[in-house]
Amino acid sequence: MNRREFIRRMVVASTLTVTGIAAVVELLARTGAPEQVYQLPTVQTQSTSQSSGQTGSSTQTQQVSMSPGYVLIGPSSSLSGRKSAYFTHPTHGSSMLVNDNGTWKAFSAICTHAPCTVQYGGGSAISCPCHGATFSPSDGSVLGGPAPAPLAEYGVQIVGGSLFVSTARIN
Ligand code: FES
Repeated sequence: MNRREFIRRMVVASTLTVTGIAAVVELLARTGAPEQVYQLPTVQTQSTSQSSGQTGSSTQTQQVSMSPGYVLIGPSSSLSGRKSAYFTHPTHGSSMLVNDNGTWKAFSAICTHAPCTVQYGGGSAISCPCHGATFSPSDGSVLGGPAPAPLAEYGVQIVGGSLFVSTARIN
């Protein structure tokens, strides 16, 4: 293999790796402007501590543990200052996190009337731009419009600065 072929293969391999990682951990944040894609950092966090009165230092690796039935979505810090954020649920697909008066809730982002993506920019309702259905940001229940059922809701846990959602719907 010559140098040119080696470089070409490395570029292809890097692209495939980045694409695979992004598919798992991408987090799309709604800012009112065009959506932005956030590449989330690694799950592990590290902290370095040095005890007084002792020589030397020790490095501790803090493993972020998750409850059974929950999957990592990304760092909770990426939600700072936001009212909502889209993410890809590993089993249920297009989903969104909604800041309900300071508490993060997770719902399917697909309207139950037809496959339109719902929106939330704060306020009292998640809304569907297609035919005007509205849903509660507290539990996904239908507030108005033609939607026949509530949005599927998933559990949310924030542990060690990482945000997890349940693999099964809770509502
Ligand atoms: S698709 Fe949402 S209200 Fe019709």
